[in-house]
Amino acid sequence: MKKDLLTVNDLTTEEIEQVLERSSWLKKAQKDGIVHHPLKGKSLGMIFEKSSTRTRVSFEVGMYQLGGQALFLSPADLQMGRGEPVSDTAKTLSRYLDGIMIRTFAQSMVEELAQHATIPVINGLTDLHHPCQALADLFTVLEHRGALKGLTFCYIGDGNNMAHSLIEACVKVGMHVSLACPAGYAPDAGIMREAKQVAKRTGAELGLTDDPKKAVKDADVVYTDVWASMGQEKEHGLRVKAFVGFQVDEKLMKLASPKALVMHCLPAHRGEEISAAVIDGPQSVVFDQAENRLHTQKAIMEMLMG
Ligand code: CP
Ligand code: NVA
Repeated sequence: MKKDLLTVNDLTTEEIEQVLERSSWLKKAQKDGIVHHPLKGKSLGMIFEKSSTRTRVSFEVGMYQLGGQALFLSPADLQMGRGEPVSDTAKTLSRYLDGIMIRTFAQSMVEELAQHATIPVINGLTDLHHPCQALADLFTVLEHRGALKGLTFCYIGDGNNMAHSLIEACVKVGMHVSLACPAGYAPDAGIMREAKQVAKRTGAELGLTDDPKKAVKDADVVYTDVWASMGQEKEHGLRVKAFVGFQVDEKLMKLASPKALVMHCLPAHRGEEISAAVIDGPQSVVFDQAENRLHTQKAIMEMLMG
């Protein structure tokens, strides 16, 4: 049966570990110049209804490196943009392609696409989830720290798609998650509830506060993301006011563990959610995160499309 990656929770803890292990192998193989073409002759369709730098380039290059090819499908060109049903699009694309990666607004749209497609569907970001980024982020932490279980992962800012996928990913591998979000910007209650259940099984702790100073205390990783995500541009002014005191700056970083990793999925707004000194400082691993999208997504595509 085909398998999709619509949320991190589509993977078991063991499957996540397998992806991380494989990412490491694929990264080394690529650096050593080893030709590895498990997806030779296969094609990935990439539907983008929102902008992208990292996701588009890393999926396209990743597919090429695995011996296959990727097609960029813009909604402006697809008949879907003119009202063709998602179900018909899914059934049609399934006759040509071996996988679909989609970046869009509603999670329900990705679910509908996956339901009607007979090939794997990979979520390249929705308003609710960003699983590929969260898996690449686990790999980045693993590379820098050597292990994940028992580390404290602090997320400061908007309880958005990034927060949701990170919560799911961290608790699954037994990392403690400490969140600070302003009132009204907390993560989805259902996702938190489910994560608490998983956390019980893996021994992780999951905490939420509106005080960044409390959340960041002794953290091993400090992560933040933009205050206004794609599609929320009109709320930017309102959000800048609501997020006062939530900037990850040098003062806040003093409260974290001295060697804490600074992480951000990018694109970043220096001077808003993070100061330039911190994101461009010695503790920042943001470009390792960006690079690791390539390796982790190759592992995901191998697993789902191989
Ligand atoms: N982090 C991330 O998904 O970046 P893009 O929006 O550039 O793809
Ligand atoms: N939360 C951000 C993530 C971008 C990769 C957004 O959705 O715009």
